[in-house]
Amino acid sequence: MQYIGVDLGTSSVKLLMMTGEGKILGITSREYDVYFPKNGWSEQNPEDWFAQAKDGIKELTSKFGPADGIGVAGQMHGLVTLDSDDKVIRNAILWNDGRSQPQTDYLNNVIGKETLTKYTGNIAYAGFTAPKILWMKENEPENFAKISKIMLPKDYLNYMLTGVAATDPSDASGTLYYDVKNKCWSKEMLDILGISEDMLPQVFEAYEKIGTVKPELASELGLAPDCILCGGAGDNAGAAVGMGIVGDGACNISLGTSGTIFICSDGFVDDNNNSLHSFAHADGAYHAMGCILSAASCNKWWVADILGSDDFAASEREITDADLGENRVFYLPYLMGERSPINDTAARGAFVGMSMDTSRKDMTQAVFEGVAFALRDCLEAGKKAGINVSKSGICGGGAKNTVWCKIVADILGITLEQTENTEGPSFGGAILAAVAKGEYASVQEAAEKLIKIVKVTEPDPEKVALYNERYAEYSKIYPALKSTYAFINERR
Ligand code: XUL
Repeated sequence: MQYIGVDLGTSSVKLLMMTGEGKILGITSREYDVYFPKNGWSEQNPEDWFAQAKDGIKELTSKFGPADGIGVAGQMHGLVTLDSDDKVIRNAILWNDGRSQPQTDYLNNVIGKETLTKYTGNIAYAGFTAPKILWMKENEPENFAKISKIMLPKDYLNYMLTGVAATDPSDASGTLYYDVKNKCWSKEMLDILGISEDMLPQVFEAYEKIGTVKPELASELGLAPDCILCGGAGDNAGAAVGMGIVGDGACNISLGTSGTIFICSDGFVDDNNNSLHSFAHADGAYHAMGCILSAASCNKWWVADILGSDDFAASEREITDADLGENRVFYLPYLMGERSPINDTAARGAFVGMSMDTSRKDMTQAVFEGVAFALRDCLEAGKKAGINVSKSGICGGGAKNTVWCKIVADILGITLEQTENTEGPSFGGAILAAVAKGEYASVQEAAEKLIKIVKVTEPDPEKVALYNERYAEYSKIYPALKSTYAFINERR
């Protein structure tokens, strides 16, 4: 049997075909637009996701034959709303959209963080789905009145393919209307938001079958007539599965459009500080996660938009080992505001410390370092919650950059492991589908059999010491700029 894994990302949908034995037969991807209608807003058209995913599936089946199962791991938190004819009501409001700060403040300050934590296990962030629903209710009442179904991005793909409205605990965790610990929708939160449970999908485990592909789509897309869809996962949980990151204490870092630190736990993680997310994992257990909103997207912005180049490797090549730990330029990566741990939608990017002898290379290096420092902020938040990490997997577009991986290892002071297959979420999606089809008894078993570590990056103690000093200085920059950010955002 063979399986298609889908990574429904923010810049593109990536798809792969995997055999039941875990061999990747082929990979493809399709891009789509992200719309930034206002400063700090971010939207996509769900119909673009479906059209491009279908196109990618067709390419894979035309080359490798029919698939027996599909697993989708997708960008989390996005608000997809459908009317009673299953038509998309408005563009999806994405995970990195900051428009719902007033609704987030209402939830955190009026409903209260303690109450939210009791109902859901988490506090509100503008990226989460619940504040977006409140935003729509307050700002687009005519659209809100049309809502018949509410779903997350990957659930929209699964719904279009099967006609079954389903989600999984890892993705549901990011809504703020799901009780993560008890794995059920929070009735209290639904009341606060003014929505009803019949608008929401049924929750299946990530590795459970939710249904089969609609017959007309199976023949159009070249899929087996009994091709199944599994619950699938949020992209970070999917990436963790694809990296073999299952079992208490295992950690994964993703350097994608966003950057995340994902730490597995057998039980629900009680993070009293609430600076990390306490979510469910795709293997049936739980995890804690820190999420920075701009990671590889900072490098894309810097190289493509600012330098006007498409030669990403050139900027990487310029940076030598001797440069690490010696840069005088700092960079704050808050191009879309920031989630963990500062929870500030008004924050923005900054370069600090340039002089007449500052080179392009110094600024490129500062971008890599700024993202790693922001991830270190999440690691430090984890330490405060009693979570200690000494080793992590690393995946995502940024992980293909050797210098960046070295910088991350030195700034976080941890060992990084890369696997033979670097396709994190799509590989994870395919593995979940294989488990749902009965090819493996559990996600754990599949991970143990299919994932091989091929590269290890150890932190260099001298660089770690230099970067510790620099991290202390980096940590002073955001507090110093906070009031300036408020000024900038008043003018948006
Ligand atoms: C996680 C998050 C991002 C998106 C990116 O909380 O918001 O990692 O899932 O795709």
